[in-house]
Amino acid sequence: MPRVKKEAIKEVKKSKRKTKPIQTVKGMKDILPSEQFLWDYILDNGRKLCMEFGFGRIETPILEQTELFQRGVGTITDIVEKEMFSFETKGGDNVSLRPEGTAGVVRSYIENGMSKWSQPVKLYYEGQMFRYEKPQSGRYRQFHHFGFEILGDSCPAIDAQVIYLAWKIFQKSGIDDAVIQLNSIGCSECRSVYKKMLVDYYEMKINKLCHDCKRRLNENPLRLLDCKEEKCTQVSFSAPQIIDHLCQPCHDHFKNVLEFLDELEIPYVLNSNLVRGLDYYTRTVFEICQSDANGNQKSLGGGGRYDDLVKTMGGEETPAIGFSFGVERVVESLLKKEIKIDHRVKKDVFLVQLGDMARKKILKLFDKLIDSNIAVGESLGRGSIKSQLRMANKTSSKFALIIGQKEALDDTVIIRDMESGMQEVVTMNDIVDEIKKRLKNK
Ligand code: HAM
Repeated sequence: MPRVKKEAIKEVKKSKRKTKPIQTVKGMKDILPSEQFLWDYILDNGRKLCMEFGFGRIETPILEQTELFQRGVGTITDIVEKEMFSFETKGGDNVSLRPEGTAGVVRSYIENGMSKWSQPVKLYYEGQMFRYEKPQSGRYRQFHHFGFEILGDSCPAIDAQVIYLAWKIFQKSGIDDAVIQLNSIGCSECRSVYKKMLVDYYEMKINKLCHDCKRRLNENPLRLLDCKEEKCTQVSFSAPQIIDHLCQPCHDHFKNVLEFLDELEIPYVLNSNLVRGLDYYTRTVFEICQSDANGNQKSLGGGGRYDDLVKTMGGEETPAIGFSFGVERVVESLLKKEIKIDHRVKKDVFLVQLGDMARKKILKLFDKLIDSNIAVGESLGRGSIKSQLRMANKTSSKFALIIGQKEALDDTVIIRDMESGMQEVVTMNDIVDEIKKRLKNK
């Protein structure tokens, strides 16, 4: 066979071969319409409560200078050491996809001169975060945070208010089995004394520690306390507890936080090993956790005070505290609980058509109705009137507006009251006013 023909056959075969579909990047996922109502539900609860508590919404860029997270989150943290999506731009800037929201909010506070605003500044935010973690259930490489921060107030009542708000968002969303875990990790002064004690303690048990803990012992000894390796947990069991080594001001602050929480009747559990995985925290730290199927504690959200961060980032000394939760984890928890949320899309009227001419009329009528703020549904692809009326029922429509071939020619519309089944013919010119009138009386 001549070579040209052979090549041509090869080309035809190749074009017939099924193209391999492209999949999502590992650790990332689509959020499909069937789940969106849960997202709206939890985010709406968060937004409403934040606004009631006097927070304003902030949006910061997804991409920030890598240095922001190195300075903010800390270089000896899992996030900065191994989990950032970092790259160099064409212009030579080192940037990273944000792994969390607090550092960006603090940058914005300084950059936009918010210290001149009336204090405290209360901000809430939501959006995608990125961490190059090993993907597993509830752990993604792209995930979403809903979070809020209060900058410019050191009062322990503010700590209690942040914990209360976090708690309330979960309660309002039907997550009633979550537990608040609480600790104080002191200020830079009392913590440095405590860190030395910890290093002395763990050095005596060095052979019983995992590889990561041995490495981190001198760089970030607090992290050893929440290592999940069984052998390290055993050693940490008898480690000195920070709560016994707080300086007087930190001790008093924490005592006051607990008193405020008791006053608000918010249940909490003290966990002296809770240190959180980010370096900016001072004093109060907390997590809201839920038990998974194996009885392990899974954190839905976490937060705490970060009184030194604004200064570390180049701003004035500004006490601050905040919290954020992982929206995917909360949505998964709601899905497991099978919480009943009425998310059916409700319509005022449903447009029913028969034939191409009627379809054209329907398209125009649809436009007129939505311009008049009437919630309208249609099913242009469906041919049978019966199946369209079924859709009208499903969407709880109060009226169906039917245009068949005769109505299309006469420029009229049949109004069908979905409750009584009564029908009446109205001219196309009058239909919007007639529907408005009838909806008022419903
Ligand atoms: P974080 O504990 O690192 O805190 O993250 C908060 C929550 O995000 C976690 O409790 C978890 O529910 C969720 N999360 C974390 N990583 C993943 C992941 N890979 N996949 C899915 N969900 C995840 C912070 O980020 C702090 N900025 C919180 C804060 C605000 N502190 C003060 N203000």
